[in-house]
Amino acid sequence: MGTRILNSSEISLAASALKRGEAVVFPTETVYGLGACLFQEAAVKKIFEIKGRPQDNPLIAHIASVEQVGCLSNIEGLLFDRLIQRFWPGPLTLVVPRKKSVPSIVSAGQPTIAIRLPSHDLARKLILEVGEPLVAPSANLSGRPSPTTVADVLEDLEGKVGFVLEGGPCSIGIESTVLSLYHPIPTLLRPGQITLEMLEDCLERKVALPQAGGPILSPGMKYRHYAPKARVDLVTQEKDLKGEFLIPTQQNLYALLREADRKGASTIQIFCNEAVQKDFALMNRLLRASGKIT
Ligand code: TXA
Ligand code: MG
Repeated sequence: MGTRILNSSEISLAASALKRGEAVVFPTETVYGLGACLFQEAAVKKIFEIKGRPQDNPLIAHIASVEQVGCLSNIEGLLFDRLIQRFWPGPLTLVVPRKKSVPSIVSAGQPTIAIRLPSHDLARKLILEVGEPLVAPSANLSGRPSPTTVADVLEDLEGKVGFVLEGGPCSIGIESTVLSLYHPIPTLLRPGQITLEMLEDCLERKVALPQAGGPILSPGMKYRHYAPKARVDLVTQEKDLKGEFLIPTQQNLYALLREADRKGASTIQIFCNEAVQKDFALMNRLLRASGKIT
């Protein structure tokens, strides 16, 4: 199967392919997503197959309006209201109790559903035109860095999907912040551009971090993610640098890792200067890429 790149005037082709049960790649402000209609189980199954994704790793529901929460969850209350007023549309995913009507394959059997309302114009237009929520994991093969350009998407999925909707480079570059409202204390499951401090400021209360060695709250975090083929060496002291090195930002991290792989580098030396070390979400991805945390 050939993969066709669609521009913004061809959204309706992408929408009808999704409605027919096909998987379609589309841009978001964080990373490109591999979309399928959430209520079509066979289409959702295809997403796991295309990515080689473990079945126990749940997917994020992408919606185009707050009203669409209603078909996924009965969540309501002050905390939810505050968060969506401040951060939606945008890179915040909320884990909330799910309705029985949500196919259990989407949630990998969990009693919850992760929901996000992206701010990318094309993503929202596409979901609106389909008329129902889409599941969309990052559009990479499982275990590879998330794609932030169409070229990155094609590197992993060329010939495996019919359509890729072109939206230029993603402005944020790392995946959304994932916050669970399912637990008695709101819990940060994946750090992102929206920080712990921003969440605590919005909620006017403490946000918990998952405890090391505690129960696995977010199945995706137990897999080695974000990993290039090359070995990743993290260096914190300038004097320890040897030869070529990179200083990443959230925006260019995955592009740098993929570029190093394309050049056939066996090792990628990364200088974690003070600015990098202060960026909790960036350090989280770097530690995963280097295999320091899994
Ligand atoms: O920025 C993003 O969120 C991107 C774009 C495409 O929107 N999507 C994305 O999806 O990063 P994915 O599938 O690569 O990562 C989803 C993460 C995983 O770590 C998964 O375990 C977690 O969200 N997750 C999904 N549903 C969950 C649930 N019900 N409970 C706990 N964690 C969940
Ligand atoms: Mg992913």
